Amino acid sequence: MTADRSSQRNRFLLFIFATVVGLLAVYLFYRFKDLLSTSLTPMLGAQAAKDSLRIPELILLSLLAFLGVRAVSTLIFDLLFRFRRGYEAPTLVRNIFSLISFTALFVLIFNRIYKEVDLGAPFTTSAIFGVIIGLALQDTLGNFFAGISLHADRPFQVGDVIVVGPLKHTGVIESITWRAIKIRTFQNHIVLVSNSNAAREAIEVAPRDNLNARLVFFGTLYTDSPAKTIHVVREAVRDADNVSEKITPIVRIRNLGDSSIEWEVKYWLDDYAKYNDTDALVRQRIWYALRRSGLTFAFPTRTLHLERKAITRPVTVEEQIADRLSAVDVFAPLSSEELHQLATATVGHVFAPGETLIRAGDEGSSMFVVHNGRVAVQVADKGGPRTVAVLSEGNFFGEMALFTGEPRTANVVALEETEVLEIGHAAMKHIFETNPSLAESISWTIAERQAALAAGSAQASQNSIQEPAGLLASIRRFFSLR
Ligand code: CMP
Repeated sequence: MTADRSSQRNRFLLFIFATVVGLLAVYLFYRFKDLLSTSLTPMLGAQAAKDSLRIPELILLSLLAFLGVRAVSTLIFDLLFRFRRGYEAPTLVRNIFSLISFTALFVLIFNRIYKEVDLGAPFTTSAIFGVIIGLALQDTLGNFFAGISLHADRPFQVGDVIVVGPLKHTGVIESITWRAIKIRTFQNHIVLVSNSNAAREAIEVAPRDNLNARLVFFGTLYTDSPAKTIHVVREAVRDADNVSEKITPIVRIRNLGDSSIEWEVKYWLDDYAKYNDTDALVRQRIWYALRRSGLTFAFPTRTLHLERKAITRPVTVEEQIADRLSAVDVFAPLSSEELHQLATATVGHVFAPGETLIRAGDEGSSMFVVHNGRVAVQVADKGGPRTVAVLSEGNFFGEMALFTGEPRTANVVALEETEVLEIGHAAMKHIFETNPSLAESISWTIAERQAALAAGSAQASQNSIQEPAGLLASIRRFFSLR
């Protein structure tokens, strides 16, 4: 962007410099024309001296005309077009304007200097000349007029994604010239499709200021509920980056196939030029969402049995979970038998990087232990989300809503692929009954976290911080403990 600016400024300075030099040269030429003519007369004779001065005059005036045309074209196309119409003037229109204006000015200057020469004669009288030019420029003229007709229609502009040409080239339009449309493909190659080819073929355009949609396909087992699949996939997709919030994604059955329910997801993109990445992200989100909800991608029937086993099994084996829970500081007082009981009561979930695990303000009746990966605890701030803590393996979160019955206090977002173990209300109640000291250590953690939240927030009142003793009493009440 800055390099663009500085090269623009250099071009502008060069232009001003050339204009000043041009004007000065014209001024000096006319100022000393008579003097030059008289000093050349003894050498060449009067008529030849005059004639020899006509050539530099023609060159100098043509140079001025060229600079004048450049100035006017910049004024019209760079400034007016961009401000009044909001898009860049097409290169083709610009070039035609410059060519016609300069030719007209040149003919005027030429006629003024060489009054005795009729410029039109060779063009109007020579049919052979016309045929030669016509044949030589057949393709070029074809492209040129195809370019004009494309511009007249204005079906696309720079920045749009198009599919064009007999080979169905796909990419973002970089420029449209009098000869061709220049496209940058998604492999970062440049493709030039000649205007005449483009005008002959159907062109698919995804305008840059339009909400363009994409379709992504997947298949699930016949045993999975379609209503649940629609809900789970829609929620996972609408959350992904670059999926427009203006239109809710549509999840629908496109076919009842031989071995699967075949689905399509239609979603709209903020920036269509990034559709490859967004398609991939949407597929990734679908995978994670299906996995978490116990829904299954369809496979050929012979692998079905094996895959089913994998789904009904917990994310990790019970010993590993018990091991993980034993490393959580608040669970340290639990016996190994209690840890195993707790481990069997947990449910494993895996989240993609960037997915939200907990949303501030939601109701919550479970807490989570990070098994693998990392999550960020974030609160809304004026300038966007502010991270108050990063939790990794062995840390827990979600305990505040679970133990106090209040809404969730913060967003918790996965920073990388993260596997968490969910512990519900019933499992905790059972543990509390046999380990009354646990409620106390948890109330300390909650009090500390409440204080950290209040310290970073301008709005949070001191009233929202509870004393550990008060917290302990409300946990006991909430869990109906003695
Ligand atoms: P809960 O309010 O249920 O949901 C959001 C969770 O973020 C919250 O429980 C805590 O587990 C966690 N959390 C909030 N504040 C902090 C903090 N300051 N440090 C660590 N974790 C926190």
